[in-house]
Amino acid sequence: METLYLSASAPETAQTAADIIKSGDLVAIPTETVYGLGANGLDEDAVAKIFQAKGRPQDNPLILHLSDAAEMDRYCHTIPEAAYRLAEKFWPGPLTMVLPAKDCVPRRTTGGLDTVAVRCPDSPITREIIRLAGVPLAAPSANISGKPSTTTAEHVRHDHDGRIAAIVDGGPCRVGVESTIVDLTDSPARLLRPGGITPEQLVAVLGELTVDKAVTAQIDKDAVVKAPGMKYKHYAPDCAVIIVSGSRDAAAKYVHANYQPGDRVLCFAEELSLYSNCAPLAYGKEADVNTLSAGLFAALRELDDPAVKRVFARCPVGGGVAYAVQNRLKKAAGFHIINAEEAER
Ligand code: TXA
Ligand code: MG
Repeated sequence: METLYLSASAPETAQTAADIIKSGDLVAIPTETVYGLGANGLDEDAVAKIFQAKGRPQDNPLILHLSDAAEMDRYCHTIPEAAYRLAEKFWPGPLTMVLPAKDCVPRRTTGGLDTVAVRCPDSPITREIIRLAGVPLAAPSANISGKPSTTTAEHVRHDHDGRIAAIVDGGPCRVGVESTIVDLTDSPARLLRPGGITPEQLVAVLGELTVDKAVTAQIDKDAVVKAPGMKYKHYAPDCAVIIVSGSRDAAAKYVHANYQPGDRVLCFAEELSLYSNCAPLAYGKEADVNTLSAGLFAALRELDDPAVKRVFARCPVGGGVAYAVQNRLKKAAGFHIINAEEAER
């Protein structure tokens, strides 16, 4: 299949992409978080193509992307008042809500669950495609399953050229990590995945929020979990990733003492000079966490190279968006973290 490349700024792109979606094929779409691999979320056969293209386990449900918050009632029932408040405050934007699914949502989309995840992305071209298609878009991150997510059209081309009908190029993604997922079928609401909408912002609206254990620890692959996607290996280059925590100096000392040819260092821009002999790659500035979230997946993809043996990674501390960056890096590292200050003692 020849993949069609469509620019988000070309006037005919939204209609062309919507026509492909209506015909049951796959279109990669830009969003503010990461690129998604979109299909008609109400068409089982179209949705099956997503699982096939990504190599995704069948029990891992997809997010339904809406063009407007008003569409939530078409696909969800027993919607708590809190969901409307969250939609009002954070949509369009990087927030996904898990709600009871109406029967019109195929179980192939929900991975067999009776709940469905919905989100309204902050990308005008993608909302226009959804509106013109007249159906919600089921769209996982467009990466091949297990690999770091796609934050540019080039990443999508790398993973899917010749295997999907079209890619809409909307430039690099602003947030760079996937949406925050909150499960509103639980009381209090439960954070299933941190992202661009922070736990602090959610608590300000909801009052209370529990954090699912899949966010903070490795989950056994046979475990029954709220977000099935969280138990699979994720976001990772092929080589081992080791997070080196602690002060700048202690971390540099640890890395220099353990560095071997073929290793790389994934660090903050402010630290590049500390690692000049250790093949460093900066993914953003420690002083501006949004640059870290925006740059993380592109950096992890660059490090996904057979020549790379191990990656020593520096991880931001604290809450807010840093919490989401920590979550993705810890998952990429399989929660392998070395405290450089303890290692010194
Ligand atoms: O930012 C995003 O959310 C991106 C863009 C494309 O919108 N999409 C994305 O989709 O990250 P995906 O499939 O890579 O991740 C969706 C996550 C998975 O971990 C899945 O298990 C979880 O959402 N999920 C989907 N439906 C669910 C449900 N009904 N209950 C619990 N978790 C659900
Ligand atoms: Mg994903």
